[in-house]
Amino acid sequence: MQLEFETLAVHQQPDPGTGAIAPPIHPSTTFAQQEPGVHKGFEYSRTGNPTRRGLEEKLAALEGGRFGLAFASGMAAISAVLRLLGPGDEVIVSDDVYGGTYRLFQMLEKYGLRFTYLDTGDAANVAITERTKMIWLETPTNPLLKISDIAAIAALKGEALLVVDNTFSSPYLQRPLELGADIVVHSTTKYLGGHCDVIGGAVVTSDDRLHEKLKFIQNTIGAVPSPFDSFLVLRGIRTLALRMERHCSNAQRVAEFLETHPKVSRVYYPGLASHPGHELAGRQMRDYGGMVSFELNRNMVTFLKRLRVITLAESLGGVESLICHPASMTHAAIPKEERRNRGIKENLLRISVGIENYVDLKRDLEDALKTL
Ligand SMILES: Cc1ncc(COP(=O)(O)O)c(C=O)c1O
Repeated sequence: MQLEFETLAVHQQPDPGTGAIAPPIHPSTTFAQQEPGVHKGFEYSRTGNPTRRGLEEKLAALEGGRFGLAFASGMAAISAVLRLLGPGDEVIVSDDVYGGTYRLFQMLEKYGLRFTYLDTGDAANVAITERTKMIWLETPTNPLLKISDIAAIAALKGEALLVVDNTFSSPYLQRPLELGADIVVHSTTKYLGGHCDVIGGAVVTSDDRLHEKLKFIQNTIGAVPSPFDSFLVLRGIRTLALRMERHCSNAQRVAEFLETHPKVSRVYYPGLASHPGHELAGRQMRDYGGMVSFELNRNMVTFLKRLRVITLAESLGGVESLICHPASMTHAAIPKEERRNRGIKENLLRISVGIENYVDLKRDLEDALKTL
């Protein structure tokens, strides 16, 4: 039976052995074999583990894909996907990506991979050559929340693999495989886990050959999540739809409040009519997401110190609201000049809007802004 997203996220087959409703955590590193090579589907937990398998199947189902693989972090997932490539291959990358992704790509230049950064917000900029083997999109991007047209880029990609880092949207808001992407990547540390208590990553595809290669890479490199971490992500996923609804409605209100505030010079949020990707985001996403970035035209440090509900911290996608200063925190790995070229200003702040009562978030922002 075809299930709607919300039901799919919650539904869990009871454990066949015990009837347990919550998925069991299987810590075993190894599994008994009846005779060499004859077993119940598991040999060694780096290669496959029942708790992780449950998570991988759930991730695939939520993305509308056929195969899911879970990793020890989002960076481990990204790194695994890049290992599909070899020296001389070119990757076209959205010019506004997570700083850690940029840092990894810099490192991979040492191994002969070539990265071309461009504004993928305009699909016409994506110029494929015979060396282009991959297109790497974040949409919305981190931290400027730029939107790229996944279907339009899929239509012109030719033989190149289209990979979408779907971390900021979560599969509840956006399903890139249905729009023509070949691979979806996640930091499950964020909305999928949802509670700032687990680091994890995921790769989903519907292509058998790609999956086989990625599974081989996963087993060979070994950056897999523990059974307990897999359980935590699975547990987070069960409330994903409800959490995303509140993240989005709170973020919309926070963005609208900030946009009219005299001490805020600019707000980046796809849900605002002033956002250049507003119309595209409306078509491509179910809602506009929980991330809001803005530029403050007064003393930033004082503002950050005065906040009482919203916490200054890296990361995003948890139930609690967090604020960060991309230039010195999440995007510090990008050289200053390059950051400036990409539009990440020194006075830019990024809020991961949580699921608290909006009244408290507004009051917190209002009070901190008042003192500047
Ligand atoms: C968009 C995006 N992709 C990937 C990552 C990396 O994920 P992780 O921190 O789980 O390694 C992050 C981390 O912030 C991110 O924001």
